[in-house]
Amino acid sequence: MDRPPGLCYRSGTMALRIETFSGSALSPMLPALSRLRMAVFRAWPYLYEGDPAAEEDYLADFVRAPSAGLVVAFDGGDPVGCSTCVALAEEDAGLTGPFATIGVDPSRVFYFGESVLLPAYRGQGVGVAFFAAREAHARAVSDCDYAAFCAVVRPDDHPVRPPGHVPLDAFWRRRGFTPYPGLMCHMMWREVGMADEIDHTLSFWIKSLHGKPLP
Ligand SMILES: CC(C)(COP(=O)(O)OP(=O)(O)OC[C@H]1O[C@@H](n2cnc3c(N)ncnc32)[C@H](O)[C@@H]1OP(=O)(O)O)[C@@H](O)C(=O)NCCC(=O)NCCS
Repeated sequence: MDRPPGLCYRSGTMALRIETFSGSALSPMLPALSRLRMAVFRAWPYLYEGDPAAEEDYLADFVRAPSAGLVVAFDGGDPVGCSTCVALAEEDAGLTGPFATIGVDPSRVFYFGESVLLPAYRGQGVGVAFFAAREAHARAVSDCDYAAFCAVVRPDDHPVRPPGHVPLDAFWRRRGFTPYPGLMCHMMWREVGMADEIDHTLSFWIKSLHGKPLP
C-alpha cells in the first residue's frame, strides 16, 4: 500500500517540513529523536527522566515494526517534533491486553504513541498535522477500525502540577477522540529526581477510522 507523502507546512513566518518515515529511513534520526523525546517528556505531565540508550532502543522498535510510521517535523534540517504510530498488534501485551479484555481484537486497532514538539513550535497547528499524518498512515498501511492512544493520569492535587496548566483533553476531542472509561494500561518510568522507576496509569482514548461504532 502507498504511504502518504510528506508535506510542507507554513505557519506565520515559520516554515516547517512534516514528513512520515518508516523502516530503515528512520535509523539516522534516532539519536536526535531520542534527545527530543527526553527534552519534552521531562516536563509535566510526564516528568520522565530519560535514558539515551533506553530511548534509542524504544525508537528502534519502530524501525523494525513493518506497520510503524514516525511523523517528524523539521525546522530546516533539525527535527523539532515527532509523533509515532504502529499497528497495536505489533505492540506488547501491556498495550494489547486491555483491548482484549473489552472484546476488541488488537488487530483492529492502530496505536498512536506519543507526540512531542519543542515548546517554541507549539500552538501553530503542528500537533493537528501530527494527528492527520498518523491517521493517513494508519489508513494507508492497514484496514484497522480504530485509532487509539493513551495519556498519563495525574491526580488534580499532584504536587508539581503547574498552576494554570491546560490539559490536552479538548484538543484530543477536537481530533475526534473519545476517552474510553476504565480502559487503562500501566507503564513504568523513572521520574525526574527519583531513584527508581514507578508505575504510571495511562487511560485510553479511541476514534473510529472508518465509521464503525465505538466498542
Ligand atoms: C501535544 C503537542 C504535540 C501539540 O502540539 P501543538 O503544535 O502545540 O498543537 P496544535 O498547534 O496543532 O494545536 C493546538 C491548537 O492550536 C490551534 N492552532 C493554532 N495555530 C494554528 C495554525 N496556524 N494552524 C492550525 N492550527 C492552529 C489548533 O487548531 C489547535 O486548536 P484546536 O484543538 O482547537 O484545533 C504539544 O503540545 C506537546 O509536545 N506537548 C507536550 C508533550 C505531550 O503532552 N504530548 C501528548 C501526549 S504524548
